[in-house]
Amino acid sequence: MSAAPLSFSTTLNPSPVTPERRAEIHAAPGFGKFFTDHMVSIDWTDGQGWHDAGLVPYGPIQLDPAAAVLHYAQEIFEGLKAYRHADGSIWTFRPEANAARLAQSARRLALPELSEADFLKSLELLVSTDQEWVPSHEGGESSLYLRPFMYASEVFLGVRPAKQVRYLLIASPVGGYFAGGVKPVSIWLSSTYTRAAAGGTGAAKCGGNYAASLAAQLEAQAHGCEQVCFLDSAKHKWVEELGGMNIYFVRKDGTLVTPPVSGTILEGITRASILALAGEMGLKVEERPISIDEWRADVASGEITEVFACGTAAVITPLGRLSWEGGELEIPTGEVSMKIRQTLLDIQYGRAEDTHGWMHRL
Ligand code: PLP
Ligand code: COI
Repeated sequence: MSAAPLSFSTTLNPSPVTPERRAEIHAAPGFGKFFTDHMVSIDWTDGQGWHDAGLVPYGPIQLDPAAAVLHYAQEIFEGLKAYRHADGSIWTFRPEANAARLAQSARRLALPELSEADFLKSLELLVSTDQEWVPSHEGGESSLYLRPFMYASEVFLGVRPAKQVRYLLIASPVGGYFAGGVKPVSIWLSSTYTRAAAGGTGAAKCGGNYAASLAAQLEAQAHGCEQVCFLDSAKHKWVEELGGMNIYFVRKDGTLVTPPVSGTILEGITRASILALAGEMGLKVEERPISIDEWRADVASGEITEVFACGTAAVITPLGRLSWEGGELEIPTGEVSMKIRQTLLDIQYGRAEDTHGWMHRL
């Protein structure tokens, strides 16, 4: 970790996207398809620490074919959003938590830690330079998705932690993660694949976890489902999370239940925020293991009244159907998920008071 805060150079993009083209992109951004004019790049060298921090034009990076990341996937990333408020100001949500989680992922993947101050500085520099790219607050759910990531850039085929690493921050104007707005998502329960095992990388936000989830995602699609819900690897019994979202159950008595952070799921910032908000909304909340049998039986009996997924990209998305090899179950949808969703979005877009000090002005 660098001791003193880094100083960042600035090299502006000589041919930025035209305002007309940017307006077209803002009209239909999709998710993660378009990128702003700049990015932040910081290098790390063993023995020297972080250096050569700068804002540079967005563009392809040079990667040697023997760069370690291409072979052993020593890579981690984060995801957070910049929101434009009605007065035009730009804010992000709990970025200190993303900085802490990036550092936690770095420790697990034997990558260097970037300090919170340098992480926040990278966000501020990119968003202030590319502020025209932050969508209007009127878009409903539009924001500028920020993707910080770090990879082993060292040219070396031996298996050991890389001695050269690069941190990059890119940004993409986005609408909803799921095409077609907020509508219930269908879920596949794989009996073939699991996501993470005890002692593995499940709690780290590393690219390899997502690569490993893709075959399960294909299996889901082959069964007419949109997303996969993973069960624990040891007993294939306990509900863990989706490929890119945590999961919550709403019980008839107003209790929210979410699986505990056991080392095999990602400690979602949205998940943690809902834990904090639920009490204020008059809901009880439990972090406890929930089995697939409880899910199926309690939906069937009406004890579970809603199930939703949550994450930065997906915000809060209701789950509408659970399918598995040999069966399926319709999941009811209801008001509780949508109320929590609205409460969260109101804080993020500055329509409700931020009593937790979660918003960080960029
Ligand atoms: N679980 C996984 C596997 C994820 O990729 C994400 C998304 O970042 C989440 C959960 C939700 O985390 P957060 O709420 O911090 O975005
Ligand atoms: C996010 O929610 O930020 C993620 O990284 C999840 C990914 C599936 C887009």
